[in-house]
Amino acid sequence: MFIPKPFRLEEKKIPMTEKKELQGKMPSESEIIMTELAIPNDANILGNVLGGRVMHWIDLAAATAAHRHCNAICVTAAIEGLSFLNPIKVGYLAHLKGRVVCVGKTSLVVKVDVHSENMDTGDKKKTSEAYLTFVCLDKNGVPRPVPPLILETEEEKAECEKAKKIRKRMLEIKRQEKE
Ligand SMILES: CC(C)(COP(=O)(O)OP(=O)(O)OC[C@H]1O[C@@H](n2cnc3c(N)ncnc32)[C@H](O)[C@@H]1OP(=O)(O)O)[C@@H](O)C(=O)NCCC(=O)NCCS
Repeated sequence: MFIPKPFRLEEKKIPMTEKKELQGKMPSESEIIMTELAIPNDANILGNVLGGRVMHWIDLAAATAAHRHCNAICVTAAIEGLSFLNPIKVGYLAHLKGRVVCVGKTSLVVKVDVHSENMDTGDKKKTSEAYLTFVCLDKNGVPRPVPPLILETEEEKAECEKAKKIRKRMLEIKRQEKE
C-alpha cells in the first residue's frame, strides 16, 4: 500500500548499511511474463489497443518484477524510453516480459518488452519497450534498501549501463522540475 509523503515516519529511515545484508539476486529471478488478450474494450476506433492500456500492462508487469526482486512493495517513480513501434490489434495476444536490469540504493530499474502475436498466423512483432524506475518502500512508506543485482552476462551488464544513463536523465529532469 502506498503511503503519501506527509504521513511518512522519516525518523524511521533504515540505514544504508543494511543493504550489505541483503542477498543478491539475478535478473532472471525477477523475470515476469504476462500475456493479455486484446479485446474491443482495450481498443480505439481503429481496433488497435490504446496506448494507455499498454502503459497500464507495462506498469503492472514492471511492478511485479520489482516486487519479486525486493520481496517488498515498490512504487513507480518514473517511466522512460516508452515506445510504440507497432499496433496491437484486437484479437491479438500481447506478451509482456519484465525484469530488473539495474539497482541503486533504494531504487531499481525494470525493463519491459512487449510483443504482439497474431494467433491465426503465429506472427510476432515487437510493439513496445520501456524502462521504469521503482522505489522500494517499507511499511511506513519510507524508501528502503533493495537487494543487490548479480549481473553475469555481457548483455546484462550492457542493459544495466543503459538503464543507469536513463536513470541519470530522469534525475536531471526531476532536479530541473524542483528548481
Ligand atoms: C517515488 C518516491 C517514493 C520517491 O520519493 P523521494 O522522497 O524523492 O525519495 P528519495 O529522494 O529518497 O529517492 C529514493 C530513490 O529513488 C530515486 N528516484 C526518486 N525519484 C526518481 C525519479 N523521478 N527518477 C529516477 N529515480 C528517482 C532516487 O534517485 C533514489 O534512488 P537511490 O536510493 O537508489 O539512490 C516519491 O516521489 C513518491 O512517493 N512518488 C509517488 C509514487 C507513486 O505514487 N507512483 C504511482 C503509484 S505506484
